[in-house]
Amino acid sequence: MPESDPRDHFEWEQSGRAMFDGHDLAELAKRYPTPFYLISERQLRDNYSRLCDAFSGVEGVKKYYSVKSNFESLVLSTLCSEGCGAEISGAMDMELARRAGMNPERVVFDGPIKSAEDLKAAVEWGVHIVNLESIDEARVLNEVAGQLGRVVDVGMRIDPLLSKPYYDKLITTYTKKFGVPFDQAADVAREIAALPNLQFRGLMAHIGSQIFRPGRYIRLLDRMFSLMKDLLAHGVKVEELNIGGGYPAQSMRNLRLSRRFVIARLLERFNRIEVQAASIDDFGREICEHFNELTKSTGIKPTLAIEPGRCLVANTQIVVGQVQLVKNDWVFTDISINDIPENLFFSEWRLVFPGQKPDAKSRPYNISGPTLATQDVLHFQREVPGAATGTPFVVLDTGAYSIARANQFTRPRNAVYAIRTSGDVELIRRKETVKDVLAMQVWPEK
Ligand SMILES: Cc1ncc(COP(=O)(O)O)c(C=O)c1O
Repeated sequence: MPESDPRDHFEWEQSGRAMFDGHDLAELAKRYPTPFYLISERQLRDNYSRLCDAFSGVEGVKKYYSVKSNFESLVLSTLCSEGCGAEISGAMDMELARRAGMNPERVVFDGPIKSAEDLKAAVEWGVHIVNLESIDEARVLNEVAGQLGRVVDVGMRIDPLLSKPYYDKLITTYTKKFGVPFDQAADVAREIAALPNLQFRGLMAHIGSQIFRPGRYIRLLDRMFSLMKDLLAHGVKVEELNIGGGYPAQSMRNLRLSRRFVIARLLERFNRIEVQAASIDDFGREICEHFNELTKSTGIKPTLAIEPGRCLVANTQIVVGQVQLVKNDWVFTDISINDIPENLFFSEWRLVFPGQKPDAKSRPYNISGPTLATQDVLHFQREVPGAATGTPFVVLDTGAYSIARANQFTRPRNAVYAIRTSGDVELIRRKETVKDVLAMQVWPEK
């Protein structure tokens, strides 16, 4: 699936050219100073339309794009123009959604800790729903709403306490951290619903990221519907059922365990390391079918909502760089792990060396970033064709949680360019300068 998906705008042409949304990557690496991020508007629009098609089995599914996954201006304004809403997690996201022209009625406010100040700003702006994570937080919001003379629409995030995924056997993940645990949810929801300045409207959950199979959402829906039934019996009605994000980027390599771990290389030898994620179409279809079955069997019919992030943006963005130096078993590039800091244990970027002839000599190298950090390694033992200083090097699938989490460890952050639907390439974020990075420092007066 990944490389041959016709809706993925990266392709190797038969001529041997590596193309991203109609542009020759080897040529772009020469045209602009590397490293830089490059976003495809067309890919983003296609991903959104594919997501809408996937979830068309239920009428009026609300989509709240998770702003933190990629908050570049073009991404937010494009999704806004497509009619997508936003999931924000604080004042910065809120300002970004506002700048993108988002209607607050299409915005939900999530997060484990929301300051009273941010809650006040969200209420004043008129966000659609504030998703609460505890009764303490509900009391704070109740007070804020009272001071403003408002009644605020709220949802409650639950931790559905689903059985742990297989990888939890290898690496402990967290439980009962986000939201209200399922076994306490009915009581807390009733307490929230009793607060005078809050109107209980929704249930929400978010069960992880880059989830391979729809089955976890099916179990989530079962739990949420049983909770809604319970709540209804106590007079609390849920109008909006938000199952969060987590849908997989179609193009990412899904590894059971990162190749960074020695045991993974053993699994790889037995062909047991890589699994393929179900397609977004399967996720949407199965979730919608099950949702429809549950509405029929229970008679409860809330609006379905989702909070996609990664699946919309991952393959819309790449990082373009160059090989700087080849030394021993190491290829040093100008792309750092700090430019793409999201180190998913279970998936992997696609790496591309554009401009190499198909018969270029290749051998395995460790691919390093340019910084002095030991962990600045993008890949161990990867075949590199024609390794030499100046060879273009591209990392695909870096649209989710990359720029948003990039840091300035020893170097300012990169510029961002966008390929518009017209085919034009435009600068949408200038490269930081050393002066930008140091601007906030306070030095003693001399
Ligand atoms: C509450 C919430 N909703 C949605 C998302 C988006 O998740 P994804 O990018 O995996 O779709 C996140 C990501 O962390 C999240 O925390």
